Amino acid sequence: MIIALDGPAASGKGTLARRLARHMGLPHLDSGLLYRATAQALIEQGCDLADSAAAVKAARGLALTDFDEAALRGRDMAEAASVVAAIPEVRTALIDLQRGFAARPGGAVLDGRDIGTVICPEASPKIFVTASVEARAMRRALELKGRGEAVDYACVLEDIRKRDERDSSRAVAPLKVAADAFVLDTTKLDVEAAFEAALAIVNSTLEDKRNLVARSA
Ligand code: CDP
Ligand code: CDP
Repeated sequence: MIIALDGPAASGKGTLARRLARHMGLPHLDSGLLYRATAQALIEQGCDLADSAAAVKAARGLALTDFDEAALRGRDMAEAASVVAAIPEVRTALIDLQRGFAARPGGAVLDGRDIGTVICPEASPKIFVTASVEARAMRRALELKGRGEAVDYACVLEDIRKRDERDSSRAVAPLKVAADAFVLDTTKLDVEAAFEAALAIVNSTLEDKRNLVARSA
């Protein structure tokens, strides 16, 4: 079973993906970390974020085990990640790593922007997690504050609007709802309620698959 969760910044897809993976006993890949780590490598090397040759080299050099999540989760790295993520060659360089992860025996949970549309079009279920931009900015501001990063709500709202726009308008693998995705709007849901709603989608997909197997037997 490959479960794909896509959605805009701070919609709660990462939290849901982690919870679902734990519940189902599946491995989880937060694909945003790949773009964040690529950006971090460029910054460390003193390269321009638009240097596509250096960005591809950095993306190809990534291994799933070497992420320093604490450093990658910051606000600056989110913005830098969305710049390198718009480089088509960077996206191509990261495909095999993600598809290899998704192909693990037993399945996997992946979250990002293009998991259901490009990386794993065969995933089932696909859940597009969304929420109002104000709710998302509030969540991210609280999260950053909890990590000791002092930012005000208005700045986070501005950041998220800009990143949503860049992620949705890029030429390759833009953020969009897959035709066969379930849309889960978490604006009025807390983490627990969002998890229950996502789990209901997963369970009904599993039930459909069992019925299909039973009918074809
Ligand atoms: O991965 P993504 O950027 O979509 O969001 P996240 O990192 O999972 O969630 C951002 C923050 O919102 C976290 O601090 C969550 O605890 C919180 N949150 C949530 O994930 N889901 C809700 N329904 C409400 C809040
Ligand atoms: O948690 P949040 O949604 O704020 O960020 P993230 O998932 O870590 O992604 C950071 C940036 O990486 C996004 O704004 C996208 O530009 C890019 N990204 C992408 O293009 N495709 C993915 N599958 C995942 C992330």
